[in-house]
Amino acid sequence: MTDMRRFIEHMPKAELHVHVEGTLEPELKFDLARRNAVELPYESVEEMRAAYDFDDLPSFLKAYYEGMSVLVTEQDFYDLTTAYLARAHSQTVLYAEIFFDPQAHASRGVAYDTVIRGIRRAQEEAEERLGIRTQLIMCFLRDMSADSAMATLERSLPYRDWIVGVGLDSDEKGNPPVKFRDVFARARAEGYRLTMHCDVDQENSVRHIWQTVRDIGVDRIDHGVNALEDEALCREIVERGLALTVCPVSNRCITGSLKALEVRRMLEIGMRATVNSDDPAYFQGYILENLVATQEEADLSRDQVVRLAANAFEASWLQADEKRAFSDRLAGYAASGAGP
Ligand code: ADE
Ligand code: ZN
Repeated sequence: MTDMRRFIEHMPKAELHVHVEGTLEPELKFDLARRNAVELPYESVEEMRAAYDFDDLPSFLKAYYEGMSVLVTEQDFYDLTTAYLARAHSQTVLYAEIFFDPQAHASRGVAYDTVIRGIRRAQEEAEERLGIRTQLIMCFLRDMSADSAMATLERSLPYRDWIVGVGLDSDEKGNPPVKFRDVFARARAEGYRLTMHCDVDQENSVRHIWQTVRDIGVDRIDHGVNALEDEALCREIVERGLALTVCPVSNRCITGSLKALEVRRMLEIGMRATVNSDDPAYFQGYILENLVATQEEADLSRDQVVRLAANAFEASWLQADEKRAFSDRLAGYAASGAGP
């Protein structure tokens, strides 16, 4: 193992872009399929992994939604979340903001309460047992209607204290941010923080990023790499201090490129880039593998790697005192002389 890899492994980290349903490893998928008597179209874990051969967002989303068929009971959501948190903890993730997709479960007859209660129990237990701190972000599916998103927002209100913010994911083609203007305005009024996916190399990527900034007024942007194509947009993002949650291994699976040089460019022009895993079970890379691949490909310095981690703690939706405590832990690690 290189000194840099060891340094990254033990560096205190925050993950701001991970879909809990995207952490469903093939082994657990098989276990849950057996438990719930769900038939899978694969004979083995190896066959399932081999089928994870995506070339665009829709081909990934097809596998992602198919995989959810095994998630039925509260215990399933608990087991899923517990497995992710153990893995994240093993890579020195101290804090994670975790997406979940309630509409993808409701459409299969799995109740909102079942999903959120299972996830929440795992969060509480992991915080107590492992010390890993987490918050939840509820995503709306952009290829469903704005009315469905609004109904989901209303469904979330009894759980307002368990959810820190809302996001927007699924298939971007033909589903611009402004489709959800009223939903996000209402979410803001309810006290939620706002983020949205602007997936990489999509039709109208740059226009969609402008919309998230100017029309929606997001607090953060998920992906957003194509902002680099527009100087005025970069300036606006820097001025507003908006962080971008880049997911390099996901980018490689979906676009053929890690976009690691783009991450370096963001750092160089003062954009608050962070590195995250997105759907680690499907793309086969957790946050450590994402950071290592990015560092190697873009030849990032030790300081730049620390900056990526610092950006994540600073851009998190924690209260100021907790944010400062995590940032101080990272600064202490960086000053300790560990690593290259
Ligand atoms: N759902 C899960 N991961 C996603 C991604 N990267 N983009 C859009 N929707 C998603
Ligand atoms: Zn995502």
